[in-house]
Amino acid sequence: LPEYFVLPGGDRMPRIGFGTWQASDDVLEKAVEEALAAGYRHFDSARAYENEAALGRALKRWIGADPAKRKELFVVTKLPPGGNRPELVPEYFDASFRDLGLDYIDMYLMHTPFAFEHVPGDLHPKNPDGSMKVDLTTDLIGVWKALLKLKQSGRVHHVGVSNVNEEQLRRLNAVEKPACLQIEIHLLCQQRSLIAVAKELGIPVVAYSPLGSKALADALSAKTGREYPDLLQLPAVVKIAEAHGRTPAQILLRHLLQSGVAAIPKSTNPARIKQNISVWDFELTESEMTELSALDRGENGRICDFGFFPGIEKHPEFPFKK
Ligand code: A2P
Repeated sequence: LPEYFVLPGGDRMPRIGFGTWQASDDVLEKAVEEALAAGYRHFDSARAYENEAALGRALKRWIGADPAKRKELFVVTKLPPGGNRPELVPEYFDASFRDLGLDYIDMYLMHTPFAFEHVPGDLHPKNPDGSMKVDLTTDLIGVWKALLKLKQSGRVHHVGVSNVNEEQLRRLNAVEKPACLQIEIHLLCQQRSLIAVAKELGIPVVAYSPLGSKALADALSAKTGREYPDLLQLPAVVKIAEAHGRTPAQILLRHLLQSGVAAIPKSTNPARIKQNISVWDFELTESEMTELSALDRGENGRICDFGFFPGIEKHPEFPFKK
């Protein structure tokens, strides 16, 4: 099983990356040090996570004065939904570039196919009732062209997209092929149809929430009443983990790798950080793969569902899924 995706020009993107969402600065800096020591070289960030500076500090300490070490890393960040307008792309890229403080960024992604209202200094603008202020006028192709233009400066090597659906991916690809598609993928939401389209177009796919982001799932349950089991405790996962002498998380990650995608598990716990990258020395059998693949719930398994923002159904790109 290849440990890397090879991108145009020969850059290698490791198929296990380190997720950084919802980690505070201090905790993240320590976790990134642990991750580097454990062998992670792919780091996934976003302007909207508001922790690029902490990630950058930890990476720069590791790089030291050795430019060869910078080349070992693959650093990803994303245009925030609050900056999802063609004319705002350069300024939001500059902010990420400055905070990360690296000589270049490996990959810059459009985070979402919709925008939040642009409120300078506030990446998460909210209505009085606490809901997000959504902008209903996103120019998807205009933003994509603005991202592509960023490559000319040499400050970013690859650009790609996240959270788009099949039709949007094809429309973006008709302008220029995205270097990557990052979407929610895990056992309950396996995204086989969208992955097939990406494969047809030759676009590498990265799975976010690969372990099912339990905290996010619980928050959605409270809002919708939909039940999400803990993927790490599913009987089939536990049984297969025991058969291999591995942990449930390792089984979930291995299932994704053997399905052909990359994954960016997030952990701030040293033992779990190590565990999540130690997935290259065992193999799930065909029947185990089949058993796990049968647990897919399709759209009912989705936990990162943007359809809950008030008024978003009027957005021209809605429903962002198939
Ligand atoms: P922690 O940071 O305490 O390890 P996802 O990547 O799908 O969003 O999942 C992240 C969540 O899963 C975090 O709450 C993280 O907690 C937890 N987690 C990460 N790795 C493991 C693991 N190997 N076993 C159990 N839980 C894990």
